[in-house]
Amino acid sequence: MIKREIIEKILENCDIVELINSYLPLKKVGNYYRALCPFHHDTKPSFYVNPSQQLFHCFGCKESGNVIHFIMKYEKIGFLEAVKSLAEREGIEISLADEKEEKKNKEIYEVIKLASKFYQEQLFIYPQALNYLIKERKLSLTTIKEFQLGYAPVGNLLIKTLYKRGFSEELLIKSGLAYKKEKDIHEWFFNRIIFPIFNSRGKVIGFGGRVLDEKIEPKYLNSPETAIFKKGENLYGLYQTRNFLAENKPILVEGYFDLLSLFDKGIKNLVAPLGTGFTIDQARLLKKYSEEIIILFDGDNAGREATKRAAEIALKVGINPLIAFLPDNYDPDKYVKEKGVKELKKIICFPYDFIDFYLKISHPKTISEKRNILKKLGEIINFTCDSTLKELYLNKISEIFHIKKEQVLNIFKEKSFSVFNVEIKKLEDQIINILLVYPKYSSLIQEYPLEIFPEEIKELIKIIEDFKDKEKINTGLILEEIKNEEFKKKCASLSFSSEVLISNIKEKDFKRLLDKYFYEYLYNKLTSGESNENILRKIVEIKKNLIKGGK
Ligand code: CTP
Ligand code: MN
Repeated sequence: MIKREIIEKILENCDIVELINSYLPLKKVGNYYRALCPFHHDTKPSFYVNPSQQLFHCFGCKESGNVIHFIMKYEKIGFLEAVKSLAEREGIEISLADEKEEKKNKEIYEVIKLASKFYQEQLFIYPQALNYLIKERKLSLTTIKEFQLGYAPVGNLLIKTLYKRGFSEELLIKSGLAYKKEKDIHEWFFNRIIFPIFNSRGKVIGFGGRVLDEKIEPKYLNSPETAIFKKGENLYGLYQTRNFLAENKPILVEGYFDLLSLFDKGIKNLVAPLGTGFTIDQARLLKKYSEEIIILFDGDNAGREATKRAAEIALKVGINPLIAFLPDNYDPDKYVKEKGVKELKKIICFPYDFIDFYLKISHPKTISEKRNILKKLGEIINFTCDSTLKELYLNKISEIFHIKKEQVLNIFKEKSFSVFNVEIKKLEDQIINILLVYPKYSSLIQEYPLEIFPEEIKELIKIIEDFKDKEKINTGLILEEIKNEEFKKKCASLSFSSEVLISNIKEKDFKRLLDKYFYEYLYNKLTSGESNENILRKIVEIKKNLIKGGK
């Protein structure tokens, strides 16, 4: 993670016109600069740069953003690399936040590293542990070493070793290696196979452990969450498999041994969540490597339910989930052992897409079943922040169900929460537009109940309120803070609306707009049946104000 101040500094220092002009010739037209768009086949210049907002926007392909987005898109590089390259260009020192984080928690990293080394050594001291991995789980020594697998013996040996090296009890607890019960200190892991979990910089941050004695519960145990180990934010195996994820789509498997077993057999494009379901953060992490994944979970009901959830999470962040199916009661590890790599590859090579998967597990027959599944699919596909993905699935649904695309869209809309008509949507866009160009007007919104505004406007207000230095806020900085890609694009496009840019909008204009919005909001409530004394009174009051202020 790069510190926010660094990004703000880059956006302040780097002039977008100068930067883009060094890549493609810009021509001044009025207040803007114009060029042929470098991101799509453009015949008449539809790529605009706005110097006062420090943004670019293409009216053809709708690509837009600030200097960082431009570099990312133009050079086809990631966010981090783009920031680094711009910082270098502007002579800005950057110290990476995760380097800092590693410094701050230096002691925890250090003791975890030693523990990991200890567990690895123990594996070669206890034959039953090494035998288990080699004979029963059929792993090669190469894989065992590559993933630095280990063994936690019984008898508080790790604690004793670490004490001898001068580490404190407090640190062992803070690192999740030990816990205190009454007055005694105990090891977190004992008599377990140990799977070190790495962060993306290759540092061990925690462990997973599996019992050797099947009678002991729980079968799997992870390190507790610590200052450096957050389960939902890391993926098992990613550090070792990251270089294989570009050539082949990442395959998401459920278990440690599924991953190790397949890796050992030469299928190396793998990652696994850490005993939790697949989380949004894990999906975002994976999206840096690929926009498509294959979900290969266990062939049982739990596995199928988990598949549905993982697919929905993937869609949410704009990853296209493909689903590979195993026969009942197989997991990838068992399947590859019994049937071999070739057979497993057959399954992986022909995955289902999201729609086919849903139809396969629910096989709707009656009209009403079909209608329900259609609604459900619409709801899920509506989640995705990727408009291309949405469109592609929309087309597919329309083909499969033999329904016109417009009708599918209607069904989707029925499911969405918005009860407002077009008029209020337009008002919303105007509010967003003005907030982007005149962020200081956000204080005027305080005079209205926050709940009347849609989530997008609330997010925008929060972003503006959170800025420490109110003087420096500009559209580019606000855009940088917006998490939702779709909304970011919409904002960038809205901020180019000439109506707002050209006219000098005063506080009282914005207030009037908000009044109008509030009026429409209440009016909608009224017509949707929620009438009460207060709403009526308020409506009359606003209406009076609006009339007083003139048209
Ligand atoms: N898991 C967990 N806690 C449990 C059970 C499972 O955290 N009590 C996680 C582990 O990451 C495990 C994964 O879920 O690797 C898959 O669980 P399961 O399918 O039960 O494990 P298998 O890999 O099939 O177990 P085995 O070692 O027996 O093959
Ligand atoms: Mn399993």
